[in-house]
Amino acid sequence: METKFWQVSRDEPQQDIIELAALMIREGKLVAFPTETVYGLGANGLDSQAVQKIFAAKGRPGDNPLILHVAEIEDVYTLARQVPPAARMLMEKFWPGPLTFVLPKKELIPDAVTAGLDTVAIRMPDHPVARALIKKAGVPIAAPSANRSGYPSPTQAGHVWDDLKGKIDGVLDGGATGIGLESTVLDMSEELPVILRPGGITKEEIAETVGKVYIDPGLYDTKQVPKAPGMKYTHYSPRAQVILVQGTPENTARRIREMVKEYDSCGKKVGLLLTTETWEKIKNIKVFYHKNIGSRHNLLTVAHLIYSELRNCDKAGVDVILTETYEEQGLGTALMNRLLKSAGHHVIEA
Ligand code: TXA
Ligand code: MG
Repeated sequence: METKFWQVSRDEPQQDIIELAALMIREGKLVAFPTETVYGLGANGLDSQAVQKIFAAKGRPGDNPLILHVAEIEDVYTLARQVPPAARMLMEKFWPGPLTFVLPKKELIPDAVTAGLDTVAIRMPDHPVARALIKKAGVPIAAPSANRSGYPSPTQAGHVWDDLKGKIDGVLDGGATGIGLESTVLDMSEELPVILRPGGITKEEIAETVGKVYIDPGLYDTKQVPKAPGMKYTHYSPRAQVILVQGTPENTARRIREMVKEYDSCGKKVGLLLTTETWEKIKNIKVFYHKNIGSRHNLLTVAHLIYSELRNCDKAGVDVILTETYEEQGLGTALMNRLLKSAGHHVIEA
């Protein structure tokens, strides 16, 4: 299949391109588009056949439901049977933005979207291209992250191209995404609000509005099945092996130096993705690939860069990626969730 590639202005997306892409969505085709978190692979969320094409293109397991993307809060009421007042308050506060709500679904939503569940995930993305596309299409757009299943999510149109060219109908290139990690998935289909996937909006921020917020025990207890079906799969993993090194900054730096030498001596190519602070402690070291991913005191930069740097390590031919751990608070919770998954929970105590 020929995959169209359109460059669009982020802030003032060209109307003619948006119209073309929206028409393709209405015709049941697949179009990838930027959001503020990661690129999504969009299809008409009310068209079962179109939605099934998403699973085929990504190689995604059929039991992993999709998020419906809307352009207005009012659109939620056509898709969800019940919207608790607390959910409405959160929508008013955080939408458009990286917060996805799981709510009881209405009949009109195809089973392919929800993987047969009685609930549906909905979010309003904060990106002019995404919103223009949804508005013009006039339907909710079902969209998972636009990567091949299991690989790190795409934060640039080029990543989508690398993973899915020839398998989808078009890619809207609106530049690099902002946050770089996916949205927070918040279950509000039952009495208590439960985070099913940590993401761009933090637990602390949600709690400010609704009081107590719970975290799905399946996220940290490997004996329990996570409630978001997607969280049980291997995920965010580059081809290279990822290892997290945890400890005080001094110990982390020392352990990484030792590991680089060990891997070097057995001919393995190492990639280091480290913060400024850790680099300062490591000092000059000879290593196959390295990137400063920002300061430990500003996780926004780390989150923004991490997926594309995992991909860059693969492009460079790295065998082993060594990276550090973060405190699990604020954006650090989402960052650690993704890093642990990409490392298959391989953590070394320094
Ligand atoms: O930031 C994002 O959320 C991006 C952009 C494109 O919006 N989308 C994204 O979609 O990350 P995806 O499909 O890669 O992840 C959606 C997650 C999965 O873990 C899925 O299992 C969960 O949301 N999910 C979707 N519907 C659900 C439902 N009804 N109940 C529980 N979990 C659900
Ligand atoms: Mg995904």
